[in-house]
Amino acid sequence: MPTAVEIAPSILAADFAHLGDAIDTVARAGVSILHVDVMDGHFVPNISIGVPVVASLRKATRMTLDVHLMIENPELYIGPFAEAGADMISVHQESTPHLDRALTMIREHGCRPGAVINPSTPVGHLSEVLYKLDYVLVMSVNPGFGGQHFIPEAIQKIRQLRDLRDRNDYKFRIEVDGGIGPENVQEVVRAGAEILVAGTSVFHTPDPAGAVQSMMQQASEVLAQRV
Ligand code: DX5
Ligand code: ZN
Repeated sequence: MPTAVEIAPSILAADFAHLGDAIDTVARAGVSILHVDVMDGHFVPNISIGVPVVASLRKATRMTLDVHLMIENPELYIGPFAEAGADMISVHQESTPHLDRALTMIREHGCRPGAVINPSTPVGHLSEVLYKLDYVLVMSVNPGFGGQHFIPEAIQKIRQLRDLRDRNDYKFRIEVDGGIGPENVQEVVRAGAEILVAGTSVFHTPDPAGAVQSMMQQASEVLAQRV
C-alpha cells in the first residue's frame, strides 16, 4: 500500500508571467509533482491554460506533470496533452459518459490515468474503474477556481477510498484537491490522502518554498505516528 505523501503545487495560483520562477522555487523545495489545472469554460465556469503551456512546462522541468482536465469531451484532448509531456492525466467522472474509454486512452498514450470526483459525486460512481486507476482525485472544492474553502465531507470519501483499496488490493493513490493548507494537511493525510494539491497556500504566500516544506513536515509527522 502506498504510504509516501507529496505536496503537488497547483500552478493555477502562480503568477503566469513568472511561471518559470515559480516552478524553480517549488522544485528547490523538494517538490516532484506539479499540478496543472486545465479549464475550458464549459465543464467549469472558468478558463485557464491548455496544451502549449504543458509543452513549455515539459521543456522547463523534469517534475511529474499532473494534468487535471476540467473540460468537456476530455477524450479529444488526451492525445495532445500526452504528446505535450503530461505524465499523469485525470478526467472527471462527470465529464464523460465513457470514463472507461478515456482512462484506457490515457494508459495507451503512456500516461498514468486518474479519475476525479466532484464534491457531489459519491465514491461508488468509480466502483467499476477503480482496478484500472493509478490515482483517484477527490475534489474538496467545486472545481473552477483556486482559493476556495475546503469542503470537509471530502474526508469521508478519502477514508472510503482507502478502505476499498485495502479490501480489494487496488493500486491507486489518493489525491485531494481544493482548499488544502496548513490547517487541514494532517487531517487529510490521516484520512489517507497521499498527493495533496495546494495552490493558494503555496503561491499566495511570501515564501512558497517554506510553505511546501512546512506542509511536508506536517504530513511526515502523521506518517511517523502510523508506524
Ligand atoms: C480547482 C483546481 C485546484 C485549485 C486548487 O478547480 O482543481 O487545483 O487550483 O487551488 P487552492 O489550493 O487554492 O484551493
Ligand atoms: Zn486541480
